[in-house]
Formats: sequence, C-alpha cells, structure tokens
Amino acid sequence: MVRVVLGPSMRWLGEQLEGAVRRALPGSSVVWAQHKEFPDGEAYVRVPAETLKEERVLVVQTISSPQDRSFIQLLLLVDACVRLGAGGVEVFAPYLAYSRQDKVFLRGEPVSIEVLLRALRSAGARALYTIDVHSPDVLTRFEGRAVNMVPANLLAERLAAEGREDVVVVAPDKGALERARAMAFYLGAEYVQLEKRRDRVTGEVTVYAEGLEVRGRRAVIVDDIISTGGTIALAASALYGMGAREVIAACSHALMVGDSSRRLRESGVRRVLALNTLPPREGVEYVDVYEWAFRRMAEEGP
Ligand code: R5P
Repeated sequence: MVRVVLGPSMRWLGEQLEGAVRRALPGSSVVWAQHKEFPDGEAYVRVPAETLKEERVLVVQTISSPQDRSFIQLLLLVDACVRLGAGGVEVFAPYLAYSRQDKVFLRGEPVSIEVLLRALRSAGARALYTIDVHSPDVLTRFEGRAVNMVPANLLAERLAAEGREDVVVVAPDKGALERARAMAFYLGAEYVQLEKRRDRVTGEVTVYAEGLEVRGRRAVIVDDIISTGGTIALAASALYGMGAREVIAACSHALMVGDSSRRLRESGVRRVLALNTLPPREGVEYVDVYEWAFRRMAEEGP
C-alpha cells in the first residue's frame, strides 16, 4: 500500500494529479497536505492522517516559486510523515530547484543543491525522485536512493504525432547534448549541438551548427530549463540565420520568468512545449508527466 501525500505546491494540478496516482499506483491512497501561513510569514503544514505506520509513503511537492517556501514545506511534510510512523519517506520533487548551483563557480559560494539534499535526508527522506535534474551526477550526493527520471519519450511522442519529416533536434549548448541525443533517438531524427565562436578582433559572437545542414528544416531546441528564455532565443535566431524553416522549443521545466514569452516569440520560436513539472505559464503547451513518473516509481519498489 502506498500513501501519497500531495503537497501545497501541487494544488494547481488537483484531480488530474489524483487521477494519475490512481491509474499508476492501484491500491494507493491520496491525502492532500493542509497548509497555511502564520501571521509572521512562517509556513505551517499538516498531514491529515491518523497513522502512516507500515505504509510506503510518497510525498509529492515540486519546488516551484517561491522556491524557498516550497522547499521548507517539503521538509516539514517529511518530518510530519516520520512522526506519523512512516518508516522511510520517499520524496518526489518533479522540479528540483537550486540544482544549477551544483559547484562552487566563484570562491565563497555554496553548493546549494548539496545543502538541499542533506536537509532532505536529515528530515527523514530515504529516497528522492525527480525529473530531468540539471546535472544528474549531483544526485549521487544524496545519502539514499535518488532517481532521475528523464521522459524524453513524452515530448518526442507529442512532436512525432505531428510528423517527423525534416526534423532536426538541437542542443543549445554542451549541457543539453544528452537531452538532444535522447529526444532524437525517440524521434528517429538527427541531432546537433550549437557552438559559439567569438571573433578575437571584433568580439562578435557567431553561433553555428557544425556538420549539419538545418536549411529548410524544422528545428526542435531541447533544454532542461527555460528561465529567461535567453538561451533558446539566441539559439533560435542563429537557426533562422542558418535557414531553418521553423523553430520549436522543448524543455522539461518551464520557469518562464519575466518577459521570457515575448523574448521567445520575438526570436521566432513558434511553440514552447514543456512537461507539467511547474504551474502553467502563458504560451506554453504542456505534456503530462505524472502517470508516466508514478509508473516508474512503482517499478522501483519501496
Ligand atoms: C543552464 O545551464 C540550463 O541548462 C538552461 O540552459 C538555462 O537555465 C536556461 O536559462 P535561460 O532561459 O535564462 O537562458
């Protein structure tokens, strides 16, 4: 029996999320965490259950904006489940914020993601599931089972249904290359990584796709996160410059901050596809990830 505790940051998905749990984890039961904010701004959560003894407990909470609040709520929920008798709590954080600060880039900085992983463990999480984390290696720093689920097939299936002809999958940088390779595999398409070249005299930056002709083709740019849209917009402009017929963006986590939608539109990006790991943003088409993810977790076992 799996008891699924749905956290406050998942409220926007409501019955859609409950349905995914029911279909993928038959025999499980769902409980929504209660939450409020104290007058001074502190977070309060409660798991409305008598006991969680002898149950596999899965707490679902995406670390959406405001990320610090979502994360504190998650820690408090894990602790509440432990106090209700759960032997080892498993956490599913579809979007794991702070994962981009995975090393000290400048002396004096923290390794933020390590701090989050340690905090989760010490609150009582014995397993952690997430979706397409920025650098999967960071999960080895969690002292428990950590599973990075990469559903490249889901975004690819949506695109494949619209035709695979002339498609080329594009990684905007080296970090996105594995994602592009995976999506290209499911699409049966070619893939390429964009390179940047800076003219040492003029300082001008040129973006190019070495060894692949994109002229007249439909380019799908793949990345883990779209935040300001800057990375994708630059790649899209470069691809149109190389003669691409149409540019589409696909990502796992659509943060879409500020005027990112406008920036993408202005660069000629025709569509933005994303997994629904974060609350919806205007102009983004979503592909549901939850049923697929819960099935994967069921296969993993307790
Ligand atoms: C960075 O390494 C990530 O993989 C994304 O490329 C980045 O977060 C995208 O950010 P933005 O949309 O602000 O360019």
